[in-house]
Amino acid sequence: MSRKILVTSALPYANGSIHLGHLVEYIQTDIWVRFQKMLGNTCYYVCADDTHGTPVMLRAEKEGITPEQLIDRVWHEHKTDFDGFHVEFDHYGSTNSAETKEFAQAIYRKLKAAGLIEVRSVEQFYDPVKNMFLPDRFIKGECPKCHAKDQYGDNCEVCGTTYSPIELINPYSAVSGAQPERRNSDHYFFKLSADTCQQFLREWTRSGTLQPEAANKMQEWLGTMGENKLTDWDISRDAPYFGFEIPDAPGKYFYVWLDAPVGYMGSFKQFCNANNINFDDYWKQDSDAELYHFIGKDILYFHALFWPAMLQHAGFRTPTKLFAHGFLTVNGEKMSKSRGTFITAKSYVDHIKNTEYLRYYYAAKLNGTMEDLDLNLEDFVAKVNSDLIGKYINIASRTAGFITKHFNGEINYTQVENTPEFKQYDEHLRQEVEKLYEAREYAHVVRRIMKRADELNEGFDTLKPWVLAKDPNNHHQLQQRCSLILHEFKVISVLLAPILPVLTERIAKEFFGLNRNFVWDDAITLTEKINPYEHLMTRLDPKLIEAMVAANQESLQPAVPVQSEQRHAAHQQNEVKKEMTETSKESESYISIDDFMKVDLRVAHIVNAEHVAGAEKLLKLTLDIGEAQPRTVFAGIKSAYDPEKLKGRMTVMVANLAPRKMKFGLSEGMVLAASGDTPGLFILSPDDGAQPGMRIK
Ligand code: 2FM
Ligand code: ZN
Repeated sequence: MSRKILVTSALPYANGSIHLGHLVEYIQTDIWVRFQKMLGNTCYYVCADDTHGTPVMLRAEKEGITPEQLIDRVWHEHKTDFDGFHVEFDHYGSTNSAETKEFAQAIYRKLKAAGLIEVRSVEQFYDPVKNMFLPDRFIKGECPKCHAKDQYGDNCEVCGTTYSPIELINPYSAVSGAQPERRNSDHYFFKLSADTCQQFLREWTRSGTLQPEAANKMQEWLGTMGENKLTDWDISRDAPYFGFEIPDAPGKYFYVWLDAPVGYMGSFKQFCNANNINFDDYWKQDSDAELYHFIGKDILYFHALFWPAMLQHAGFRTPTKLFAHGFLTVNGEKMSKSRGTFITAKSYVDHIKNTEYLRYYYAAKLNGTMEDLDLNLEDFVAKVNSDLIGKYINIASRTAGFITKHFNGEINYTQVENTPEFKQYDEHLRQEVEKLYEAREYAHVVRRIMKRADELNEGFDTLKPWVLAKDPNNHHQLQQRCSLILHEFKVISVLLAPILPVLTERIAKEFFGLNRNFVWDDAITLTEKINPYEHLMTRLDPKLIEAMVAANQESLQPAVPVQSEQRHAAHQQNEVKKEMTETSKESESYISIDDFMKVDLRVAHIVNAEHVAGAEKLLKLTLDIGEAQPRTVFAGIKSAYDPEKLKGRMTVMVANLAPRKMKFGLSEGMVLAASGDTPGLFILSPDDGAQPGMRIK
């Protein structure tokens, strides 16, 4: 019987770009939804932009536009990114919608009627210049533990301590730079500590809704029976705030996290309205539909505690299951702007274009647990090329020619099609893969399918069709065997369709001549005919990855356009970061002597200078700074200097800049030069007598 399923992914914030970390979840969800749809289940996938809160409000203000204009622009950017990665929502909405507002207010009213809302006075930091209360992230100051300067109000990025902003030493507003005052204001709390919430959550945790790791985490949060570890949740924020006003509480707004999950309902409601679907069938308390939220493990707290407790006490159904996944690392480390591994969806598309490479790689690494997933860029290239091109596509590209040339594309396997082994094999494989997809064990799916691809390639090698083709007496066998291989190619194409929707659609339509996309049953039906093979997929060129990483690499602002090729992308990344940092400009305009001393400036002797083939702006410099080996530095000074004239000169370089892999080789530092509004670029020279390697301080 066909199931009724509603699926969501976490709503991305409307104040930042979609990056490769986000895409783990959207790709994971999209694969699952496509699989359910192929099976013939009724499955809807909704999502929306998460639009409310202080960061959006302040960013819009800085850009001189309204929050509505900002979220509208970002909505289109996000939608373009998702389309590019073939993440196919049934509806992509916004939390800033009439529907979400209505549900948020209705839920609040129900919670209030149930005695689960309480008003309390809270003391908080207030910015007297901006006339607003400051969220923790907008207060900065000295860490009370390690005394690192300029740490956020909630945790120290240097020593990792978490604290309350009140504990910061010399706090200042990251919005205006002003010293904040402590003021009281009434806040609205959802009483999560109430017995009814606790009892419900204990039961819900035990009902199989959560992955084992998540259930353990919940036990930790809930404490043992009799313990009351849950604290009430502050759901209000004071004006000015971009969000929904709380009913009967003028000047008080719902905290962004209150209406974010309600956005799942709001977005689905819009979809129902447009498609004549009964919303209540999916959300009423006794609904027989299934509801799944795909989320990152970092937001489990919101989805496993607040959200089900809100739904339960407001008379709605609760989620069937939460599917939490781990974080993305790139080359084994956190995504990093300085390493160029903080890569936006747009940047990936601009450089690599084919997004199914990444869908495949993520699938090959994903399972149903909360383990982190590593995108190893070298392995990415190797895996895509060896699996997709070397194994999978290879089956069709090498076999098809024999059927096209000798048999006019006619498939014929009369001898084998009725053998029980043949029929059972496909059915068995399909069922095995089906269970794995359902359990989100995509890595296992991929391994299983690639094992089959290996068998088919080996079968082809053993068959030696190029030998059989030479003797017409062997043509019957040639056709039988090649037909079988191509049939099996179809089987695995069907099974890969949730992961590779675009490629497999082409295979269905162009190669197998179906005038539709694959459906799940195509994995057990026989193929009749093929069209001549046409190129299906290009190898992933590692140079594209190098260029993408180089383009995303950010450094200390270079004094000369050393990485001018990379400026544009770095600028884009900066725009994202600015949102949190630029507001604190005034207080950050001085650095301490310690900060300055972190930069290791050295006198350098230019041993050699030369042009770089293919580089418009760079010269390659060989610099002696008194070390055993000279350093290589690529400097963007070609427009101003003839390399011959540089040889033998002394200059100044930054010696402790992390080595940077550039398109033309490794750059091991940076030379300093002056430039201004008038044309010209001038490298520095020390006074006579300075020796290579002398420190500048
Ligand atoms: O963590 C985030 O990016 C949030 N915007 C996710 C919200 S998910 C849901 F609750 F809306
Ligand atoms: Zn610290």
